[in-house]
Amino acid sequence: MATRKTSIKPSSFPEPKPPGITVLVLAAGVGKRMHSRASKLAHNLAGKPMVRYVVDAALALGAQRVLVVVGSQSEDVRQAVGTKDPKVSFCIQEQPLGTGHAVLSAEKALKGVEDTLLILNGDLPSLRVETLRSLLEFHRQHSVPLTLLTAVLEDPAAYGRIIRNYNSDVARIVEASDATPEEKQIQEINAGIYCVELKHLFKNLLQAGANNAQGEVYLTDLVEILKRNHQKVAAYRHPDSEEVMGVNNRRELARAGKRLYLRKAHELMDAGVTFLDPECTYVEANVRVGRDTVLCPMTFLVGDTVLGENCWIGPGTRISNTVVGEGCEILDHCVITQARLGRGVKVGPFAHLRPDTELAEGVRIGNFVETKKTAIGRNSKANHLTYLGDSEIGEGVNIGAGTITCNYDGAKKHKTVVEDGVFVGSDSQLIAPVRVRKGSYVGAGSTITKEVPPYSLAIARGRQVVVKGWARKHKKKQH
Ligand code: UD1
Ligand code: CA
Repeated sequence: MATRKTSIKPSSFPEPKPPGITVLVLAAGVGKRMHSRASKLAHNLAGKPMVRYVVDAALALGAQRVLVVVGSQSEDVRQAVGTKDPKVSFCIQEQPLGTGHAVLSAEKALKGVEDTLLILNGDLPSLRVETLRSLLEFHRQHSVPLTLLTAVLEDPAAYGRIIRNYNSDVARIVEASDATPEEKQIQEINAGIYCVELKHLFKNLLQAGANNAQGEVYLTDLVEILKRNHQKVAAYRHPDSEEVMGVNNRRELARAGKRLYLRKAHELMDAGVTFLDPECTYVEANVRVGRDTVLCPMTFLVGDTVLGENCWIGPGTRISNTVVGEGCEILDHCVITQARLGRGVKVGPFAHLRPDTELAEGVRIGNFVETKKTAIGRNSKANHLTYLGDSEIGEGVNIGAGTITCNYDGAKKHKTVVEDGVFVGSDSQLIAPVRVRKGSYVGAGSTITKEVPPYSLAIARGRQVVVKGWARKHKKKQH
């Protein structure tokens, strides 16, 4: 075989490896402006705690490591981060002495790391991973020690302002509380998102003092310090200012929550889900919805809920941590929690399905029906005014209006079993533990305390007594 001379193409040389990415999330602040007992970062927006959005964006970016700075007492923030991903870890800022101080508290944990460090304020729940990617790319293209993400706001309010020099390079950041009236006019703000080469960070940041209106060590002073030390600082101006809005008070919390719900609605609409009014429909971050499903206004889909294709939901219905099969109809004003619904199930209006409810294909649950720890077999119906608790209902069963499983004796819960094909007449009570065997009938108004054998009729009610003419005599006596 002739040997071929192989030419080494330049592209087959390994590219110089870009530095890895470590993310530092600042989450040790007090969040005074929230007036809350809980940490600001643990507050929930559209299904996830605030800090979790930031940590998830960092993980989606492919960071090697995500280090979250938390206060010494903030168990709630650790819980809010809530991920078991081994890339995520914590370090402690003993006292909330400012964002610069928070970064300095991570020095030990980051010793020896030479990565690009992405520093993120923990109160930026709307931040998207695509934005972080663009920032990193910009940072790499500019090969500077520090790149800031900035945005232009109509009302820059309490944000740090970007001060640029005569040739429009970033010169420093001035916090709103330290700004002169002229500086306050500047609309370009610091978003609290920074890309910094670790080898330049700590030695420079250590030079920051606390000589400012808030008496804190500001991370933002790093800009001026680097400039003083003849280093370059770049700014990546992000066009979507809403996305980088920090959440500092309840108004901003509501605004960011609304935006996140709407973002989720847009994602689902793009995947084929119909919203009659996306502004008034609240689908949380982790929920999944199949295509051609219609969501009516004031529907809340909460937690890890999964809806199949072709369902109709609402209006005014809340479904939490529930799996709903294809083609289900869940009508107005239902509350459904931790349940599983098979295909083609119809529920409501006004039904309450409580935890551990399992409805097989074709089940029908009507108005004012409550279920709890109850499995109902295929095509069975409980159409009106019923409570089914701790029960097992077979296939093709009809539960009449006003049927109650009396599952609680004041101390313990007991089980009711209604086998396939049973007909329970209206206004019956099934006193648990009790079993109604297959194919039998329970006469309306019965109080069933003993097992009903298969294919029989059980009637357990007072016999009707008729006293002819009684009413006429009774009336006369009264006059
Ligand atoms: C900060 C910036 C400001 C910027 C704004 C963007 C500073 C000094 N200012 O102001 O320029 O426009 O964000 O939203 O950085 N934190 C700690 N430890 C502390 C203090 C804060 O971990 O001691 C954390 C907070 O939990 C929060 C983040 O740092 O997640 C930002 O703190 P915050 O008080 O919200 O800063 P701002 O006043 O909004
Ligand atoms: Ca803030």
